[in-house]
Amino acid sequence: MAKTKSSYFCQSCGYESPKWLGKCPACQQWNTFVEEVVEKKSSGVPDWKSAGSTSLSRVNKPSKVQEIVYTEEHRLVTPDKELNRVLGGGIVGGSLVLIGGEPGIGKSTLMLQLALIVPNLKVLYVSGEESEQQIKLRAERILSKPVSDCYILTETSTQNIFKQIELLEPNLVIIDSIQTLHSSHIESTPGSVSQVRECTAELLRFAKESSTPVFLIGHITKDGMIAGPKILEHMVDTVLQFEGDRHHVYRILRAIKNRFGSASELGIYEMEGTGLREVSNPSEILLSQREEPLSGVTISATMEGMRPMLIETQALVSTSPYGTPQRSATGFDTRRMNMLLAVLEKRCGFKLGAKDVFLNIAGGIRVEDPSIDLGLVAAIISSHEDIPVSYKVCFAAEVGLSGEIRAVTRIEQRIAEAQKLGFEQIFISKYNKKGLDISKFNIEIKTVAKVEEMFSLLFG
Ligand code: TYD
Ligand code: MG
Repeated sequence: MAKTKSSYFCQSCGYESPKWLGKCPACQQWNTFVEEVVEKKSSGVPDWKSAGSTSLSRVNKPSKVQEIVYTEEHRLVTPDKELNRVLGGGIVGGSLVLIGGEPGIGKSTLMLQLALIVPNLKVLYVSGEESEQQIKLRAERILSKPVSDCYILTETSTQNIFKQIELLEPNLVIIDSIQTLHSSHIESTPGSVSQVRECTAELLRFAKESSTPVFLIGHITKDGMIAGPKILEHMVDTVLQFEGDRHHVYRILRAIKNRFGSASELGIYEMEGTGLREVSNPSEILLSQREEPLSGVTISATMEGMRPMLIETQALVSTSPYGTPQRSATGFDTRRMNMLLAVLEKRCGFKLGAKDVFLNIAGGIRVEDPSIDLGLVAAIISSHEDIPVSYKVCFAAEVGLSGEIRAVTRIEQRIAEAQKLGFEQIFISKYNKKGLDISKFNIEIKTVAKVEEMFSLLFG
């Protein structure tokens, strides 16, 4: 009988150690080591062709970079334009894509929808979480007459999955979810670091050797990490994150890593009773339709990837009933909000220290583009002074620590988008003016260098 071999794995980063450790030397987390059995069986269990993860089936020779022939990757362009955009123009053959997100956000829906809508494509949807009937029910809600050849398999053993793949020869494989799979080469339980790693390695080998794209659904832990090892992110070609507020209808698909395209692209969907609908013009839905301007509300021209997006930000500044004022932000970094408040206090003399400040980005969207700073600062002061900002005005600039207004990238695209949506005035940094041809825009462009300058233009 083979001796059982076990190792300790950090559940957060996948670091392996022969003995238990209190603190992980790789990711510095405490109490994350768990013992797992890692004995590999060498019995003739079928694996994806080349058995065992250490086999060297192919020997590559070094080639000169000038002599390597470049071929455009073959991409499968799906009818889902948002997904194509996030992947960098379609699904690359043989790519392994991980899609992560909180439970109930709509990962299974997104993937099943993909499996149903690509015409004449043979898709295998492997589910370890739901029964065939449940998936059928969901499929009917999304699309009653699928245009693809979609097969459903409820199985969790990778060896059995590969057997079915060999029989079916699908053009696309979807795994829901990687944490439910187990490989018979490893003895630990499904979802453990070594299982997740081994199953991903087997699927990776399959994807590369057969040039079949594989999508993996992965769960996310409460602190936002893809559950199980971080190491998964290194193994796959692309990591997508599906996020959004569960109480809002909008869902955002974000590329975190992409070997075949930009990692800053964003896809937006709306969750409806009949599946996810693509939102091709995000600005129109993110701006609330109103006639009268309200205090504390401003609009910023932000960029998400290559796409300009006008987003409404709301601020509420009120006198704190208790000694310690509350500060909270939804969809925006709280530390950055505190920095902006400090700038307003110190550089512009607004007394915000004893005030509650709440910030909210409309639509449940999270914005990381610093160009939203100027709009936020304007919203805070608009609420503080109770003077509304006209809804025909928008903003696009970063605010620095000394209250200076800094330039942002792709200013022309932002201005063009604001003009397209009917704004009459846009505030930008003075330093963005260089090389900018103002005459080609119909919108009035206000250039400012200091926050105070903008306030006197806005509020008089
Ligand atoms: P699901 O895809 O099961 O989420 P995940 O796989 O990420 O856990 O999505 C679940 C939610 O989506 C559920 O609350 C119901 C809702 N939903 C709709 O609103 N419309 C639909 O057409 C479908 C299929 C689901
Ligand atoms: Mg699911």
